[in-house]
Amino acid sequence: MDHYKPEYVHCNGEQFRIYLTQEEIQECVRKLGQKITRDYAEKRPIFIGVLNGAFVFLADLMRHVTIPCEIDFLKLSSYGDEKVSSGQVTELKEIDAEIEGRHVILVEDIVDTGLSINFLIEKLKRSNPASLATVTLLHKTEKTRHDVKLDYVGFRIPSLFVLGYGLDFAQEGRNLAQIYILDKNPKPAAGEDAK
Ligand code: IMP
Ligand code: MG
Repeated sequence: MDHYKPEYVHCNGEQFRIYLTQEEIQECVRKLGQKITRDYAEKRPIFIGVLNGAFVFLADLMRHVTIPCEIDFLKLSSYGDEKVSSGQVTELKEIDAEIEGRHVILVEDIVDTGLSINFLIEKLKRSNPASLATVTLLHKTEKTRHDVKLDYVGFRIPSLFVLGYGLDFAQEGRNLAQIYILDKNPKPAAGEDAK
């Protein structure tokens, strides 16, 4: 299969460069999948992906989970066409699955302030799942509210705007196989959970 992974990307008039390579991302996702497999044996978890951004990550993650599991999606409003959060969370699509008594794993592409994931945790809890865990591929730690509960984190990164592997800039760039940043920022460190 051919993947879209250029050295530089031009998106909405700005130049982006590679921040996390396809190999780094795939290795991290594989480890997260193995960890979830160990933690959820016999539990038949249901993954709830947050659209649109998490669909690429969740598609890869789920294929590294080698126990029976299910999937559903919900959708939140995005950043719009800006690079900073609007501070407003609006739900655009609800889940269809019945999650009462189920082991739920909420899957995000990226957590920044934590506003979106906290909103979803509170919402899903009201359906009385047997357990509720959170997974995010990327965690921008600097602006995250202290009460945000993240159980599995792929990479911890500074407050940089990132693009690719499901993440967009004004709806573009989701099909990039790697993660890119504006072409003027430093390199990342792997999150503990991905080691
Ligand atoms: P939070 O509510 O501030 O934690 O923001 C989380 C949501 O904002 C994520 O689900 C993404 O959709 C979006 N987001 C945050 N940072 C970025 C980024 O760097 N690139 C693209 N989308 C982002
Ligand atoms: Mg998102």
